[in-house]
Amino acid sequence: MPTAAVTNAEKTPKSAGPKAQKKDKGGDRRLKRIDVTMKRNQYKPDALIEVLHAAQEAFGYLDEAVLLHVARGLKLPLSRVYGVATFYHLFTLKPSGAHNCVVCMGTACYVKGGGKVMEALQAELGIEVGETTPDGQVSLMAARCLGACGIAPAVVYDGEIAGKQQPDQAIAKIKELQG
Ligand code: FES
Repeated sequence: MPTAAVTNAEKTPKSAGPKAQKKDKGGDRRLKRIDVTMKRNQYKPDALIEVLHAAQEAFGYLDEAVLLHVARGLKLPLSRVYGVATFYHLFTLKPSGAHNCVVCMGTACYVKGGGKVMEALQAELGIEVGETTPDGQVSLMAARCLGACGIAPAVVYDGEIAGKQQPDQAIAKIKELQG
């Protein structure tokens, strides 16, 4: 967990920028999901990770406009929000592919073969963690723990969690998603 210090030089953004403002005007429901999460946590800065999770669930990735929106809502410097978003592998700042695959690399999953599943998917897709295939079909990501250690190793395919995954199963699932 990064401990980005808040200095006087860091300013809390007052505006979420043109892109976010445009989304605000349009009443983007995804931004409302983020707002609901921030409100539920009483806009406390400590809720940053939970809010970023909600944002990524809503958008699939965290672009600058979304990070600004979160920074403004929690009254945090953008540098702090950006620092946390880039520290955790579960968060991605790049647009996702048409399909997402998140392999849990937490301890329980790793010892049960999560690392082998990840290696197999990297080889199959020809990409590294955090990347999207050149055809824009699949984004491959890693999580630290999905909270499903009992079914380790776990993989999330397009938001649906699957347990006890083996490399060949994961590759078959990816091929299925790709059509
Ligand atoms: S370590 Fe993978 S779900 Fe907890």
